[in-house]
Amino acid sequence: MGTQGRLQDKVAVITGAASGIGAGTVRRFIEEGAKVIIADIQDEPGLALAKELGANTRFIHTDVTAEEQVAAAVDLAVKEFGRIDIMFNNAGVVGAVGRISETNTDQWNRTVAILLNSVYFGMKHASRHMVPQGSGVIISTSSTAGILGGLGPHCYTACKHAVIGITKSVASELAGNGIRVNAISPGNTATAMTSAVMTGEADQLDATAEHIAKGSLLGIAGLPEDIANAAVYLASDEARYITGHTLVVDAGATTLGGTGRFHRQPTAMMREAGVRENG
Ligand SMILES: NC(=O)c1ccc[n+]([C@@H]2O[C@H](COP(=O)([O-])OP(=O)(O)OC[C@H]3O[C@@H](n4cnc5c(N)ncnc54)[C@H](O)[C@@H]3O)[C@@H](O)[C@H]2O)c1
Repeated sequence: MGTQGRLQDKVAVITGAASGIGAGTVRRFIEEGAKVIIADIQDEPGLALAKELGANTRFIHTDVTAEEQVAAAVDLAVKEFGRIDIMFNNAGVVGAVGRISETNTDQWNRTVAILLNSVYFGMKHASRHMVPQGSGVIISTSSTAGILGGLGPHCYTACKHAVIGITKSVASELAGNGIRVNAISPGNTATAMTSAVMTGEADQLDATAEHIAKGSLLGIAGLPEDIANAAVYLASDEARYITGHTLVVDAGATTLGGTGRFHRQPTAMMREAGVRENG
């Protein structure tokens, strides 16, 4: 007899699931006994992942900016696996870049569609099934750029803050329906997105991880499975008392102050704080 997984027989939809954090979460959810709809615009890697992981996955081409496609991904979970327990709104891009005075408004609107409208569509259509069911978990991917300014482009930062806002708002509505709504704010994580930014190529994951590790307070790079593990926890019944929360998974980047030089080489004040009494 196999052991019970932490997500045994739960049914999940994950957007942006063909790569990076999404794909890492598909793998972890399957290991924990879940059934997963892989929703992404990238057909080839999405289909390959579904084929590799077998009968408990399906791939569906999903552009998260199109409401009816997000609705279809959710409905596929119900059609194929009978229900939807977990909605993970995770698809994303860096989007519009540049100084505020020079930002292209079409790119701005497109970025909002991918990073924010998508989360609204996911919450809306998952809750269609979860409310009558009386249970469910919705998780959305924000960012450390959703916590602080200056960590990403303007539109990305605005949208990732908004993901935390809609998470709190919808959590307050759906708490009465037995549905928990949370966000995850990853710090730098070695994926195609960060690789493209840091190296100019989307597939330089080792070099990207090395680069991230150098800037990390813990001296290690965030990997997709680190974010996936947070998603497993929030999706599982272990987190039954947690809603409206943003779980920050960033090696302390937004809380411990900068680059970590201070901590690795304690200043006189830090050293003395440990050995001297106050006054
Ligand atoms: N990597 C990081 O350091 C980091 C940090 C904070 C937050 N995030 C967030 O994590 C999420 C996942 O990003 P990642 O780092 O795994 O990058 P990634 O590029 O590896 O994966 C993003 C996935 O989203 C998909 N996608 C993009 N536009 C889409 C659309 N319109 N419809 C459907 N799918 C679409 C892509 O095809 C891709 O598979 C994003 O929301 C990103 O903003 C990443």
